[in-house]
Amino acid sequence: MNRDTQLRKGIYVEAEETARQRQFMNEVREINHQYETEHGKKKLYYIQTYGCQMNENDSERLAGMLTEMGFAEARVRDESHLIIFNTCCVREHAESKVYGHLGGLKKLKDENPDLIIAVCGCMMQQPEVVEHIKKSYRHVDIIFGTHNLHTFPELLYRVLATGKTVVDVWDSTGMIAEDLPIERKDGVKAWVTVMYGCNNFCSYCIVPYVRGRERSRSMESIINEVRMLGQQGYKEVTLLGQNVNSYGKDLNDGTSFAKLLYELNKIEQIERIRFTTSHPKDLSDELIYAIRDCNKVCKHLHLPVQAGSTKVLKEMNRKYTKEQYLDLVDRIRKNIPGIAITTDIIVGFPGETEEDFLDTLDVVEKVRFDSAFTFMYSKRTGTPAAKRPDQVPEEVKKERFERLLEVQNRISREINELLLGTTVEILVEGPSKNDINTFTGRTTTNKIVNFKGNRELMGKIVTVRIDKVQTFSLEGTLEETAEK
Ligand code: SAH
Ligand code: SF4
Ligand code: F3S
Repeated sequence: MNRDTQLRKGIYVEAEETARQRQFMNEVREINHQYETEHGKKKLYYIQTYGCQMNENDSERLAGMLTEMGFAEARVRDESHLIIFNTCCVREHAESKVYGHLGGLKKLKDENPDLIIAVCGCMMQQPEVVEHIKKSYRHVDIIFGTHNLHTFPELLYRVLATGKTVVDVWDSTGMIAEDLPIERKDGVKAWVTVMYGCNNFCSYCIVPYVRGRERSRSMESIINEVRMLGQQGYKEVTLLGQNVNSYGKDLNDGTSFAKLLYELNKIEQIERIRFTTSHPKDLSDELIYAIRDCNKVCKHLHLPVQAGSTKVLKEMNRKYTKEQYLDLVDRIRKNIPGIAITTDIIVGFPGETEEDFLDTLDVVEKVRFDSAFTFMYSKRTGTPAAKRPDQVPEEVKKERFERLLEVQNRISREINELLLGTTVEILVEGPSKNDINTFTGRTTTNKIVNFKGNRELMGKIVTVRIDKVQTFSLEGTLEETAEK
């Protein structure tokens, strides 16, 4: 069996693969070093990330490898020597954005033939996308997928050495390459992927096809990573997985997400632990108790409901009914009073009637979510729902989307208004984008609070009094003895 077959089957030893990629990183560093000596500056890279936090975390890994290879990050895209698009295909809009931006790079490549353009991420796991890019976007030099992100140094080396286009997309992998470098954007909060892939096959969703089956990292490597983050000064970690509730099941040794939370809760320097996403069908009592009992685990659950009608939920393959979801929310709130619950909702799933949609509105009114990400159903080729003849017309989707948004925005605002005049503890993240004297932090319930502050407060937990509320954020004043 050759290396590639071994790797795809997950037989190859992870450490060996990391060592192999390190060799390629060294080779590229040599090449870049020459450039640096000749030009007195480093080559620059620019990564454009689309999609979810998983992709953001993958981009941090790419950034880590690039730094190791002697690149520096460009401030503006057009001055860079290497541009990477880390793509998403969860909805059509995400894909068309990538194609638009990719088309825009042609002129840049014409002006500067040495520019290297790489595309990776979820879109590349669809063979027809790769074919389309090869044919219609010939200025692309490297194409790779989610399963072989770690082979990026090898692919980059091949392009540098041969000048030829390199396409390498694996259709699966049993391996998780640990110990590759990573460079995080933020200094206070860090993302930590705990599991890859998804086994749920919700009938509308492309993710299981482009991210493969569930693979959990070992508890040991996650604990080590979080410990290290604590030592580096990080205060908050967000554990990532498409369905973190099933973390550990594939390890077959009794590992569970709840157990992981109890372990991480012991790590001293870390103040806050968040996680996303939870699938309602897998949210165990054990996990509810862990959230309740671990003081560092934030009192916020992102619990996508997707739809309110039991008929639609069944056709979505979500494996719970409207009543089961409402019961679950009750159980969570009884055990953890004050916990914030947020959600994802799709309107216009094939066959959704007005009556079905009213069920969605009913769930929204009954649960009173703190906030919701709302989406219009988007047909994804290859998923079962895309083949259905009873697609909902665009204008009906739009109309339902707007009605839903109106109800949810009112509720979000009403919930925020309850905080007016109260004091809350927030972890200070950094200055706001628009005003350097305004700082931003979040409550344990994940509400954004803006207040007048200073850089010294970054990474600290402070108390603020809420004196103004909006639908999506709060404004507050720092309390005198604010620092905890
Ligand atoms: N694994 C997570 C999130 C996956 S994608 C979960 O199960 O919740 C994020 C959100 O995108 C989903 O929760 C869903 O609401 C939305 N989504 C996924 N596929 C979609 C599609 N084809 N059309 C519209 N929204 C979609
Ligand atoms: Fe997609 Fe469902 Fe998996 Fe979430 S749980 S990634 S919505 S298939
Ligand atoms: Fe998009 Fe892939 Fe995430 S499809 S939502 S980037 S897992």
